[in-house]
Amino acid sequence: MDDFIAGLPKCELHLHIEGTLEPELKFELARRNGIELPYSTPEEVRAAYEFDSLTSFLVGYYAGMDVLRAEPDFYDLATAYLTKAASQNVRYAEIFFDPQAHTSRGVPFDAVIRGLRRAVMDAERRSGIRAQLIMCFLRDHSAAYAMATLLESLPYREWIVGVGLDSDERGNPPVKFAEVFARARREGYLLTMHCDVDQDDTTEHIRQCLDVIGVDRIDHGVNALDDPELVEKIRARGIGLTVCPVSNSFVTDGPKADVVRRMLDLGLRVTINSDDPAYFLAYVAENLATVADELGLTRAELAALERNAFEAAWLPRAVKDAYL
Ligand code: HPA
Ligand code: ZN
Repeated sequence: MDDFIAGLPKCELHLHIEGTLEPELKFELARRNGIELPYSTPEEVRAAYEFDSLTSFLVGYYAGMDVLRAEPDFYDLATAYLTKAASQNVRYAEIFFDPQAHTSRGVPFDAVIRGLRRAVMDAERRSGIRAQLIMCFLRDHSAAYAMATLLESLPYREWIVGVGLDSDERGNPPVKFAEVFARARREGYLLTMHCDVDQDDTTEHIRQCLDVIGVDRIDHGVNALDDPELVEKIRARGIGLTVCPVSNSFVTDGPKADVVRRMLDLGLRVTINSDDPAYFLAYVAENLATVADELGLTRAELAALERNAFEAAWLPRAVKDAYL
């Protein structure tokens, strides 16, 4: 089955580029930027990972980004991910980035987007992998800061396919950003939002995504399974759910792979993704292998998961068809 998974053409739709920062690159960037890390080896960094909730994960995730300072750092970060993804036969990826996690530290927006964009273009030339960028707002910051970030992105509109919403969900519902997302829609961005697993009010957040924001996709969205009305809306609208099984197994002690089985059985457009692979120690192939193992998936079911992902991708119909 591992060989089948390795050869399967893949599409990844839920991937935070800052969550692909491997400790080895972290050391290289720290050296380049004259930063002293509180660890002496990459192994020590990994040994210190201890996540049992979204909040505990986010603390390490934001701290880890401090080594990203200039355009070449973002280029190297995205190049490393795209190289790894191409080696797993990922043909197309939609990559989240968190500009506020950098602009809030004084890193220019331009350095972030230019480095990522250059990496995407070079990777396509080198290995044929295609990628598009999705700009995420940090939901634990203000709506005004998100709006300012949206406006800052407009000169780079052609380099960004859509916007998302991530970070700490508790007390930060979709409606907090209704105006920002309405403006993003008017600017031509496609819309997605995290509805993380087991946060407070997640089913209400999914309802807001569907009824107020009008999202094109939902990231995670696992708790929709608790509400038949939400399931029916998601199914009827063909909304893709970007589930991240290994990530979920870290940040909750709840179900992981079995939700994928339930979504498949309900006819939902479920997709398998890695979220923050450097931290959860699993890229997309390992996520697929985990689900296949736990559920005893057939080859046809694995292929169906990747077809779902290409269907849910933010690509023109003819481009999707070429992948399918
Ligand atoms: N949820 C919320 N915020 C995040 C995540 C996530 O899965 N990954 C990186 N930032
Ligand atoms: Zn995520």
